[in-house]
Amino acid sequence: MERENFGSKFGAILATAGSAVGLGNIWRFPVETGKNGGAAFILIYIACILLLGLPLMLSEFMIGRHTQSNATGAYHRLAPGTPWKWVGRIGVFAGFIVLSYYSVVAGWTCKYAVLAIGNQFEGADPAQLKSQFLEFSSHPWEPLAYLVLMIVLTHLVVVMGIKKGIEKCANILMPALFIIIVVLVVCSVLLPGAGEGLTFLLKPDFSKVNGGVILSALGQAFFSLSLGLGCLCTYASYFKRSTNLPKAAVSVITVDSLIALMAGFIIFPATSAAGMPLDSGTMGPDLIFITLPHVFQQAFAGLPWLAYIFSVLFFLLLIIAALTSTISMHEIVTSYMKEEYKLSRPKAATVETVACIVIGVLCSLSFGVLGDVSVFGRTIFDFCDWIVCEFCMPIGGILISIFVGWYLKKQLVKDEITNGGTLRVPLFNVLIFVLRYVAPVAILLIFLDQFGVFI
Ligand code: PFF
Repeated sequence: MERENFGSKFGAILATAGSAVGLGNIWRFPVETGKNGGAAFILIYIACILLLGLPLMLSEFMIGRHTQSNATGAYHRLAPGTPWKWVGRIGVFAGFIVLSYYSVVAGWTCKYAVLAIGNQFEGADPAQLKSQFLEFSSHPWEPLAYLVLMIVLTHLVVVMGIKKGIEKCANILMPALFIIIVVLVVCSVLLPGAGEGLTFLLKPDFSKVNGGVILSALGQAFFSLSLGLGCLCTYASYFKRSTNLPKAAVSVITVDSLIALMAGFIIFPATSAAGMPLDSGTMGPDLIFITLPHVFQQAFAGLPWLAYIFSVLFFLLLIIAALTSTISMHEIVTSYMKEEYKLSRPKAATVETVACIVIGVLCSLSFGVLGDVSVFGRTIFDFCDWIVCEFCMPIGGILISIFVGWYLKKQLVKDEITNGGTLRVPLFNVLIFVLRYVAPVAILLIFLDQFGVFI
């Protein structure tokens, strides 16, 4: 049977950009920017994306498209009988874990969209918003219902297949996301008092930059571009042979960075307009569910209907961004189960869905009844996040760069990236140099950072 492909090149890019654009852009990016000093962090982030993100994304694209195979099958084909298949296995494992805990937060965004639609933030002060959030996230079953809703929605799209499910969904959701974000940016930057937020985003203060800031930027780049987990490799396995891989990678990276910056242009001007500080205190993990509902009320004080629309659109934006990412996480495992265990797509997807719900429920309950359960000193949710972001992603990134930079024949890599010599790729030797020397060392630094080696 012929393997499925994306129907159009544009659809393929939209779907891949959909994977990259997620809670990482709209939540994690502004939080990291706030914590790490604003514009200077953004410049370093962009440098990380260009120097490391682009070569690694291109490597994953090349592996996936060349082998037309799932994340583990790809390594099996390129390096049969070697331990390289473990790179794929780590990716599939991480894809499964990331979907489980990411869906917990994705579920919260659904609940908050419902609250926003019900105008439940009006008149609430930060203390009330905080207790509302803590009550909800520790509730014994309500967050579980939203978690299951998000995973089941994801499941339904994945079961429909590549063209009719993933691509079609991206073709509808990504333009919707773009329109919403443009509307929100325009509203936010026009607010009286937005200027301070804009300055924070646009005027770099390099005095705040240290090793930790650079490592945060690298970690953010990995998460935001969905690197190191076999996700990009899996999607690229559905690209057409004629797809221009460097162009696709540049497009995805541009969309991803643009959306992250735009999220900054929503959040920082609104926060300064609300008269709140732009530092790490405000921009902590509470940002989305506690701080922002308050910020929106304050920033649009006197125009409650605008605050209402703004809040509804913002949480809708988060749901869309989260969904296009959960779909890609699900597809890593579904394609693996389907091809390696010869299951039908619906069966493979069901196995993944059920397993994710089980782990997702445990992650969700770690904010409530399982709050005291600790795995290596962390709650279940934090442990899952740690395993993926601090362990699988960097290890995956190092191994992928070594695999393409050192293990694969340079000619094979060149043939795939240049579509058999028909495309001109002027910086090819720079790409190989980065993959051989720069990427493994730089990523090793992120990896070691978590063990406090540099503190
Ligand atoms: N890039 C997504 C985000 O920024 O939210 C998260 C993500 C998607 C991570 C897919 C990993 C993945 F495989």
